[in-house]
Amino acid sequence: MTRGRFITFEGGEGAGKSTQARLLVERLQALGISVVLTREPGGSEGAEALRSLLVIGDADRWTPTAETLLMYAGRSDHLTRLIRPALEAGTWIVCDRFSDSTRAYQGAGGGVSPAFIEAIEDEVVGSDKPDLTLVFDMPVEIGLERAFGRDMFEARFESKGLAFHQRLRDAFLAIARDEPGRCALIDASGTLDEVAAQVWSTVAERLDLEP
Ligand code: TMP
Repeated sequence: MTRGRFITFEGGEGAGKSTQARLLVERLQALGISVVLTREPGGSEGAEALRSLLVIGDADRWTPTAETLLMYAGRSDHLTRLIRPALEAGTWIVCDRFSDSTRAYQGAGGGVSPAFIEAIEDEVVGSDKPDLTLVFDMPVEIGLERAFGRDMFEARFESKGLAFHQRLRDAFLAIARDEPGRCALIDASGTLDEVAAQVWSTVAERLDLEP
């Protein structure tokens, strides 16, 4: 059985990742590929319960260190119960956010040391890193404006202020620059169709699919 491919979508707030992840899944399914769309924080029953603790409430509800541990508790459950078994069965995974979000939000944004995050990452994720990570980039002000226009319930991270979000953008750009083999930068400021075309051509090229 050929192992499934593991694709993650990353980036700041309001960049259109979730919509684009859904469109990509539909396009892969149209090619006859078995694929599951999932998300973090969340993706398994236990991790979805942790998600509610993480994304609702005051901005300072958790320290960045506590957030990191909760994110990885959920990630461990998600990997064990959904991601690894699916990949082993040949099913592809498209995941809306994964480890790079911890590096950006809790690391660059919250000040948690990269060495601490890396140590937990090695233990929890190990060799099951994404085959391809699409990093959605757009100006912070535009992203936040879009994000505030929709879900005000799960808005704990959105409410952290402009400087925090600028640090995230810089961190995601640095991740894409430092790991070009795994990551591809997507200019998320275009129209939905333009971004979908960019996503598709990147996935097709990187993962050797018919364009
Ligand atoms: P979402 O809005 O993309 O569904 O993600 C929920 C929030 O969780 C978002 O503000 C980013 C944040 N987050 C982290 O802070 N660290 C992480 O590791 C993940 C996966 C998400």
